[in-house]
Amino acid sequence: MSFELQLAGMRALVTGGSRGVGAAVVQALVEADARVMAAGRSLPSCAVDNVRYIAVDLSTAEGAHQAAKSVHEHLGGIDILVNVVGGSKAPAGGFAALSDSEWSKELDLNLMSAVRLDRALLPSMVAQRSGVVIHVTSIQRVLPLPESTIAYAAAKAALSTYSKALSKEVTPKGVRVVRVSPGWIETEAAVALAERLAAQAGTDYEGGKRLIMNGLGGIPLGRPAQPREVADLIAFLVSPRAASISGVEYVIDGGTVPTV
Ligand SMILES: NC(=O)c1ccc[n+]([C@@H]2O[C@H](COP(=O)([O-])OP(=O)(O)OC[C@H]3O[C@@H](n4cnc5c(N)ncnc54)[C@H](OP(=O)(O)O)[C@@H]3O)[C@@H](O)[C@H]2O)c1
Repeated sequence: MSFELQLAGMRALVTGGSRGVGAAVVQALVEADARVMAAGRSLPSCAVDNVRYIAVDLSTAEGAHQAAKSVHEHLGGIDILVNVVGGSKAPAGGFAALSDSEWSKELDLNLMSAVRLDRALLPSMVAQRSGVVIHVTSIQRVLPLPESTIAYAAAKAALSTYSKALSKEVTPKGVRVVRVSPGWIETEAAVALAERLAAQAGTDYEGGKRLIMNGLGGIPLGRPAQPREVADLIAFLVSPRAASISGVEYVIDGGTVPTV
């Protein structure tokens, strides 16, 4: 039996599409014959064929405006918006190290990037009475880590609450809104972090990975997720196969979150 995603010809924008999870989502959607645009501050070192990349800073209002304008110019509208952009560069040191400026940066990148882009692109989805919006959150919204990611965790929690509220407003108008909440993912950045920790602790790469997993309280599955595994979940959720799914959150963490 085949499992056709029925995404051929669909118009999609993937934010953060140049690396990590976003790049894997771009690849998965292209393989399903969707028409894909990808946004990041820089162009990727390995571009995927048939993808139009745009360089914009989505933590700014101007960046969101530019991205939405490009989508209308090049795709003539949109069916799928995957908000992947996010992350944290906040300093270590707990709450006292987080100035207003650090809080603003985390909120702009992890919450406002999606809020602004949704606001710019949702009207055309509502007008055509169809579309899907994905928000990539994090298990840190329910399992926050205190050392350097307090603001990131709070921003992801806000993104989840915003996403749920948005789904209530636009699902009756034909647009599905779904959250995907990953645990630790073995992206290029994660590999670099594990290698750094391994070097500091005098162990090998697997030892470095174990240090990260221990910091999360363990991963019952025994390994991080691969970017493509997260992308495959997203590809299913944006497809017509998931037509009755809206307003919910899918956790992909190998069992990391220890409660129901
Ligand atoms: N990795 C994990 O373990 C993990 C766990 C839970 C949740 N998540 C969430 O999953 C999502 C993807 O994470 P990832 O680890 O795959 O990220 P990543 O490898 O750090 O890639 C981030 C992507 O976003 C782009 N980007 C960053 N800042 C941007 C900005 N201001 N404007 C436009 N584009 C920007 C980057 O390209 P440029 O640098 O060129 O801008 C890149 O394409 C994030 O929302 C993250 O919070 C990740």
